Amino acid sequence: MSALDFLNTRLSVTSRQLGEPGPTQAQIDALLAAALRVPDHGKLTPWRLLLIRGAARARLGAALAAIHLAHEPDAPTSVIEKDRERYNFAPLIVAVIARVDEQHPKIPAQEQILSAGYVAYNLLLGAQALGFGAQLLTGWAAYDRDAATLIRT
Ligand SMILES: Cc1cc2nc3c(=O)[nH]c(=O)nc-3n(C[C@H](O)[C@H](O)[C@H](O)COP(=O)(O)O)c2cc1C
Repeated sequence: MSALDFLNTRLSVTSRQLGEPGPTQAQIDALLAAALRVPDHGKLTPWRLLLIRGAARARLGAALAAIHLAHEPDAPTSVIEKDRERYNFAPLIVAVIARVDEQHPKIPAQEQILSAGYVAYNLLLGAQALGFGAQLLTGWAAYDRDAATLIRT
């Protein structure tokens, strides 16, 4: 398949449709190496990647469910359970964290965020190239300060 044919047939697979088997460690290494080959103005590498797999997925879901409930004590149980389950389908979750230098003298923050987004998109394309389904997801947690603190635990 040509590169253009590949791009023209790109398709996400929704996270709930994903399941085992996930990529091997060798496939993950290849995927990550390819994903980082993005345009990066100023070579700031304004991203960090966090791999979440195995039991960590359920721990993440439980932590997000607890945060959601703390923010919205009256949220319907079905909504909270969706948070708890959200990360249990895909065998591998790669959290792409934009590590932006807001005060950089030359490279605007939006260019750094774009670069991190390219990494996310390269992960999506790379997963498909390796024969895996994948989907980009943000959801409320990507914009939540309390959820952001989870990456330190
Ligand atoms: C930055 C970004 C965040 C997204 N977040 C979500 C999300 O939280 N939930 C969701 O259902 N789709 C989300 N999407 C859309 C899906 O990733 C996907 O693009 C959509 O299901 C359409 O499928 P396609 O990529 O095959 O066209 C997001 C897309 C982008 C670019």
